[in-house]
Amino acid sequence: MKAITILTVATMTFSAASAQDAVDFEKQILPILKESCFKCHEKEKEDKGKIKKPKGGLRLDSAEAIIKGGKDYPNENVVAGKPDASWLLKTMALPESDEMAMPPEGKGDRVSAENQALVKKWIESGASFGAWKGVE
Ligand code: HEC
Repeated sequence: MKAITILTVATMTFSAASAQDAVDFEKQILPILKESCFKCHEKEKEDKGKIKKPKGGLRLDSAEAIIKGGKDYPNENVVAGKPDASWLLKTMALPESDEMAMPPEGKGDRVSAENQALVKKWIESGASFGAWKGVE
């Protein structure tokens, strides 16, 4: 009887851990992009009479645009399964002094190491957007 109880507890602990492992784009990744990146990487919009285009031709406000990437690194913004090839993560991880560091030097706080690790995990595990499509 005791052995069965231990086994059940072990199984429950294991499934709780794997559920925790799956990164939910909308809940965990989107807020990071909103906070640190949207300011410069949203769909073209009018701001005080001026047209604001997404910087570097990169939009991060839709799943399609995130995969499409920007002008210099098309199709290499998020490469599913390959965090080291994904500029979304690489630019976050660069030292602030690097000209490709994102957000650019003096233009916003660095993404925390904890959040970078989440983004890495999300890309590693296949970069799924779930049901999220974002702005058309
Ligand atoms: C204050 C504005 C600003 C913010 C905030 C910002 N960026 Fe950028 N981003 C730029 C500019 C400007 C460029 C174009 C740089 C160039 O072409 O030399 C760029 C280019 C990029 C590129 C290269 C796109 C390509 O293919 O050419 C990536 C990737 C990128 N940003 C990711 C991010 C991420 C991820 C964040 C949030 C962590 C972020 N950026 C936040 C201004 C910003």
